[in-house]
Amino acid sequence: MKNTFYITTPIFYVNDKPHIGHAYTTVACDVLARFMRLAGREVMFLTGTDEHGQKVEKSAEKAGVQPKQFVDGVSQAFRDLAKEMNLSSDDFIRTTDARHIKGAQALWIKMQEKGQIYLGSYPGWYAVRDEAFYQESELVDGKAPTGAEVEWVEEPSYFFKLSEYQDKLLAFYDANPGFIMPESRRNEVISFVKGGLKDLSISRTTFKWGIPVPGDSEHIMYVWLDALANYMTALGYGQEDDTKYKKFWPADLHMVGKDIIRFHAVYWPAFLMAADLPLPKRVFAHGWWTVEGEKISKSLGNAIVPADLIETYGLDQTRYFLMREVPFGSDGNFSRERIAIVINSELANNFGNLIQRTLSMVHKNCGGVVPDPQGVQKDELDMAFLQKIQVTDALTPENIAKRYYDCKFNDILADIMAIASEANIYIDTKAPWKQKKIDEKLMNATLYHLVEAIRCITIMIQPFMPGSAARILTAIGYSEEQATKGILFFELAPEYAIKPGTEIAVPQPFFPRIENVS
Ligand code: MSP
Repeated sequence: MKNTFYITTPIFYVNDKPHIGHAYTTVACDVLARFMRLAGREVMFLTGTDEHGQKVEKSAEKAGVQPKQFVDGVSQAFRDLAKEMNLSSDDFIRTTDARHIKGAQALWIKMQEKGQIYLGSYPGWYAVRDEAFYQESELVDGKAPTGAEVEWVEEPSYFFKLSEYQDKLLAFYDANPGFIMPESRRNEVISFVKGGLKDLSISRTTFKWGIPVPGDSEHIMYVWLDALANYMTALGYGQEDDTKYKKFWPADLHMVGKDIIRFHAVYWPAFLMAADLPLPKRVFAHGWWTVEGEKISKSLGNAIVPADLIETYGLDQTRYFLMREVPFGSDGNFSRERIAIVINSELANNFGNLIQRTLSMVHKNCGGVVPDPQGVQKDELDMAFLQKIQVTDALTPENIAKRYYDCKFNDILADIMAIASEANIYIDTKAPWKQKKIDEKLMNATLYHLVEAIRCITIMIQPFMPGSAARILTAIGYSEEQATKGILFFELAPEYAIKPGTEIAVPQPFFPRIENVS
């Protein structure tokens, strides 16, 4: 297994404040980044903001400020989001950074040197909202297929010879079946490419807010070429120090929403082929969230601000819900009722209750230290239970890594929670309060196995709920430093099992119930 892992979020447009949809992409990347680190890989996790283009220029105009002043403000809101959501991102790229401008221009020059760019003139439809060109045949009732308003533009433009890449792209998808995920998106992209590709207009002259085309500053670069380049420019591509580029490129995963799959799975690989550069390993397109059944829209004013969710439900509870509610790749609906149900049934009543019951019993009966399981023959129930919590095949880092890489977040969480349910059943069946009356040793063994189960479940859940996991791990004897850094996944193995005699903190509710359900 390669030892580095490079993962990216889309870079966010700064014409909008961060909402739950943006938080979703970034949390998913964070979960993957954290898992890969805990599986022992060196990770580079990138996020940032997409600050050029007509859309942003118009928003700045509307706000009555200069574009740069405008983008500085909104970009900060996305940086704050990273902090609020406890994201472990390693860098934050802005397309207005000097390093990015230099790198994006270097990419342009490389494509031009290879003879893949020519000057022509573009007459056609453009949708500012999507920052995308559309063919006449694609319009629906005079609008873009996305519903965005289109305008007729006719201006000199540089073109990229996209039409020459149809066969190369199809051959590439064929040779790399895991490049576009999920399968439904892969099929969608393949049929789009099979439908024929036209050369792509990659410069504009009618507005100024963008990166000047090298050697022809009348033109600015098409915002998507500018934006996509961020994935390489953040690593130092086209700049003096390109150590990170050499180390991490090509990206292992570009995480994107389903609306921007075409840019990432068609244009981006074609640009890279044109520049003779290595292609990313995978593009995963996730679904979209609605809120209480409605599309998130500025006019409805229904965008949920992540900070509100965190305040009402807790940070890790929110992260958990986003990753648990729908299979990654499908659309999801956010409802206050559902988040409360999921938190109450899975975190409060299941996992939280397991911790609370176990640690309270250890305090009440074992003087607050992990009891010794020695001297008790394991029965069938113990064996079956222990097998579930110990590293079985399904839990070896290699196998879980595949499930993580395939973004099976909700399945992974369901499996982890199933272990917590088993543990709760184990308590009820073993009834340590009764065992105590027969022979304290029996109770000790049961409680020992339960604390060990909590240890394993918590290690497994770290990528999803890093803050809560660190608090739980500290409560069962890890130092704060170890717990905050994270416990590597190989420590799930029995030889790292919790030691009898380890001091246990007085239990506190880690996942309180949400009382006001709607
Ligand atoms: N700037 C481009 C991306 C350039 S990447 C080189 C862009 N920005 S965006 O701010 O409009 O969207 C960023 C991401 O947020 C996209 O992946 C998009 O799918 C995602 N989401 C925006 N609204 C969303 C929901 N309602 N639900 C889930 N994700 C959503 O596109």
